[in-house]
Order: sequence, then C-alpha cells, then structure tokens
Amino acid sequence: VWTPQSIIDTQIAAIREKVGDAQVICGLSGGVDSSVAAALVHRAVGDQLTCIFVDHGLLRAGEREQVEKDYAAGMGIRVKYVDESARFLGALRGVSDPEQKRKIIGREFIRSFEAAQREVVAEAGAAGKEVKFLVQGTLYPDVVESGGGTGTANIKSHHNVGGLPEDLKFELIEPLRQLFKDEVRALGRELGVPEVIVKRQPFPGPGLGIRIIGEVTEERLEILRAADFIVRRELTAAGLDDEIWQCPVVLLADVRSVGVQGDGRTYGNPIVLRPVSSEDAMTADWSRLDWDLVARISNEITNQVPEINRVVLDCTSKPPGTIEWE
Ligand code: XMP
Repeated sequence: VWTPQSIIDTQIAAIREKVGDAQVICGLSGGVDSSVAAALVHRAVGDQLTCIFVDHGLLRAGEREQVEKDYAAGMGIRVKYVDESARFLGALRGVSDPEQKRKIIGREFIRSFEAAQREVVAEAGAAGKEVKFLVQGTLYPDVVESGGGTGTANIKSHHNVGGLPEDLKFELIEPLRQLFKDEVRALGRELGVPEVIVKRQPFPGPGLGIRIIGEVTEERLEILRAADFIVRRELTAAGLDDEIWQCPVVLLADVRSVGVQGDGRTYGNPIVLRPVSSEDAMTADWSRLDWDLVARISNEITNQVPEINRVVLDCTSKPPGTIEWE
C-alpha cells in the first residue's frame, strides 16, 4: 500500500545508497517541488546536502524570508543564498517582449546558479569533499509534459525540466520523478516541511518579471509587490487558498489612465487580478470571487499603493487566455 512514509523510506534508502559519502547540491526556488525534494534528500544524507537559493529580485514580498526562516532554519537545511537582483535587472533593462524576458531570466538564472555551484564545489573541495550529485524536484507531469510537448502549457518557454545546462558534471537525483503534486504535498507534510510551503500555489520561474507588462524596473517591482501582497493577504483571510488555483496579479506598467485620488487628478497604472480555478493549469476558469471581497481588495490596493488608480478583474478562461499574461 502506498503511504507517504513508505515512499520516504524507499527513497531514503535509495538516496543513501546512491550518494555514499559524497556531497549533494540542490537548487531551491521556494516552491513545493524543490522544497520537498531537498527535505527528502536532507532526511537521507543530512549535512552532505547544500542548497542554493538564487534571489533574482523578481520574488514576491516575503518569499526569500519564508525559505530562510520557516523552511531552512526550521528544518536545519544548509542554504547558500545569492542575491543576483542587480544582474537580472540589468539584463532586463529596456526589454518588454515576453519571450525575450523569459529567455533572459532563464539564461541569467543558469549563470547565477552555476557561479554559486562553483563556489559550493570549491568550498567542499577545500574541506576535502567532493560534490557529485544534483537534486531536482522533477515531478511525473513535468517528465510527461517535456516529452510530449503538445500541451497548451507549452506555448511558453518554461524553465523547469532541462532548465539546467546539459554539460553539468553532476549525476541527477530526482526523488519525485514518479509522483504527482498531491503526493508530493503529502510527502512534504510527512517530512515536516512548513505548511506555507507545502500549500504554496504555482508561481512561475521568471517570477514577477512576467507579471509586469512592459519593461521590468525596481520601481515597478515594488508597486507590484505591494499590490500582490494585499491580494494574497485578502484571499488567505477569506479562506480561499484551497479553492483558488492561483491568482496572478499583473501590473500594466505601460498603460496609464486618469483617476482621482486624495485631493486631485492622478495618472496611474491599472493592476489586474487574475484568480483562476484549475486542475492542472492546462485549462482554467476564472474564479467567481465574492464581490465584497473584490471590493475590499480594490480599495486596499488603491488606498495603499498610490501609483495604482484602477483595479481590473480578468474574466477570461484558459483557453483562450493563458493564466499568466506573458
Ligand atoms: P500559462 O500562463 O501558460 O501558465 O497558462 C500555466 C502554469 O504555468 C505557470 N508558468 C510557469 N511556471 N516557469 C514555471 O515554472 C514558467 O516560465 C512559467 N510560466 C507559466 C503558470 O503560473 C501557471 O501555473
């Protein structure tokens, strides 16, 4: 019979056998998959595991802290944090095209990760240890999707499977390769991964970079972060985290409209709420949120984020719209 514990036991034995006394690296994104994969490997080989967290500056408010405090410190997992926000922002300067942004973010991510990786390898080497393995949180649907290539979710270039260069000299450990998301969540709970991470909704690898329609700048990121924080807070308070698949918040940075805020006329940006319900992100329907909740979110955003003077609700299913706007 399948139980989370039986999978954990089997995987731990297999990981120990494979790894021996070598060192292991794992990239952490803050998402469910990599967090659970790392927790599992950590359970198997303890401090032989070093995680790498690349902060690309396109994260939502509090995300890095969540990984740092709730996850890593709480579970005793060693993480090397690299702040690469300046590099990503620099590379994105002047770029508005969605695919262009994705390519740049993907490329810079690999570069940042490789640099961090080289440091971990060097530090291990100095201590007489050798890094031989790389953990990836690949799930069964990722395997199928990257092989099939016909799904609507593949319309955009994703950076999950095969997001790392081929020439890495590490052997892969993919302990979740046969599992579905629900099973991974169950495993995470059993391993003691904090609920905020286990329950986390999908968030794209390119982060807020593809939720700013137009050029990505630090100022725009701050506006989007503030609005997104309010939306997440209100949806959670309304008890909708399980009901809503995800709710991208999108800044239409190049669009401005006239408004009246406080004492006078404003010329601000609109922000889009994109709450969707879905089973697998391949298709989705827009969530029929309670109007009072929508009103509350709208008021909070326009009161607290002065640059935003309009809140817009996206009522398009997928297809024809994708979940993300880019
Ligand atoms: P779309 O916008 O194609 O999104 O309907 C489908 C699902 O995929 C997520 N998404 C991504 N996830 N890297 C990711 O890891 C990406 O580049 C990426 N683009 C979209 C999106 O949030 C939704 O859950």
